[in-house]
Amino acid sequence: MARIEMEHVTKQFGATSVVRDVNLDVKDREFLVLLGPSGCGKTTILRMIAGLETMSEGRISIGDRDVSDLAPKDRDIAMVFQNYALYPHMTVFENIAFSLRTRKVPQAEIERRVSAAAESLGLAQYLQRRPRELSGGQRQRVALGRAIVRQPAAFLMDEPLSNLDAKLRAQTRIELKRLHEQVGGTTIYVTHDQVEAMTMGSRVVVMHDGVMQQVDTPEGIYARPVNLFVAGFVGTPAINVVPAATQAGTLVVEGQRLPMDLSFLSGDQRVVLGVRPEDVHLDRHFLAEHPDAVLRGQVRLVEPMGHEKIVTIEVGESALTARVANEWNGVRDENVTLGIDVARVTLFDVDTGVVLARHSA
Ligand SMILES: Nc1ncnc2c1ncn2[C@@H]1O[C@H](COP(=O)(O)OP(=O)(O)OP(=O)(O)O)[C@@H](O)[C@H]1O
Ligand SMILES: [Mg+2]
Repeated sequence: MARIEMEHVTKQFGATSVVRDVNLDVKDREFLVLLGPSGCGKTTILRMIAGLETMSEGRISIGDRDVSDLAPKDRDIAMVFQNYALYPHMTVFENIAFSLRTRKVPQAEIERRVSAAAESLGLAQYLQRRPRELSGGQRQRVALGRAIVRQPAAFLMDEPLSNLDAKLRAQTRIELKRLHEQVGGTTIYVTHDQVEAMTMGSRVVVMHDGVMQQVDTPEGIYARPVNLFVAGFVGTPAINVVPAATQAGTLVVEGQRLPMDLSFLSGDQRVVLGVRPEDVHLDRHFLAEHPDAVLRGQVRLVEPMGHEKIVTIEVGESALTARVANEWNGVRDENVTLGIDVARVTLFDVDTGVVLARHSA
């Protein structure tokens, strides 16, 4: 298995830059996730690593070997696509064995590797079936099996679960993770699904318009976003983004004052306040403990989710979403006091969206 390094990798299609100066060091055995909206360059990055697309500039090495000029077949990586296209006329066994046959691997070795892969993928009893006799999830696992038996230096996966239904996707996600722990292959996994990224990645790279925004652990991405794009891309419901201003050591939000240590800022300025829905509190307990860190507003929407409620509260011209316990029994149009956990909020620059500084309680 192997480490993957990208240095100053760029890609232009004609005059359009779709990948700009990507620098990435994927550790041996790591499960790294590339996360970003459609068109941000995720597939292009994978294809450049695989050698299916040329770089405009930059260098890629796999396992300390510069592969920049190597043909795809010489890079020793296996790619799993969203459209995994199994051979319909071949059995599961032959589909998984296909790449080994083309490499003239001896029959005994083929049988050994295919059985081992089928075992770990829960496909052992389906080896004689054809793809049309399998469920979508089983077919997806056959595609994974094809990649695993090659024992490549690294796996590249491009939204491999996206055409499974929600339940199967959650299940296959867990299986993939378990498989990675077993097989241990260095993996770069592409998705636009933040839940997939957060649950699977040892580290997550958030991409936007061909530019890496942040490389961090899932926890780091969520709790310490470097800019508004990252903050808004992860988390459901989304982070609250509210215009605010600093004034004489307090944060002014919709004409109301929140006490906050703003000593890290020089002078008064307009800012953007970012606060996660779970850091907006409506319960008596929080309000009693933090009597000053409050805003006043009016409930506009209550959405019961079963285990919690999502409450939208109008504060002046802004709306804030709160995630509250089921026991909270406020109703629409009710005037409420919202406790803001100021130790966990983030302030962003009005013009650039870049994080200004952060408080730690
Ligand atoms: N062969 C090509 N010629 C011109 N532009 C291309 C080509 N391939 C991709 N692009 C453009 O490059 C950008 C990045 O595409 P890419 O497929 O890498 O995005 P992505 O992040 O994988 O998106 P998605 O989530 O939709 O799969 C897009 O704007 C796309 O239109
Ligand atoms: Mg893509």
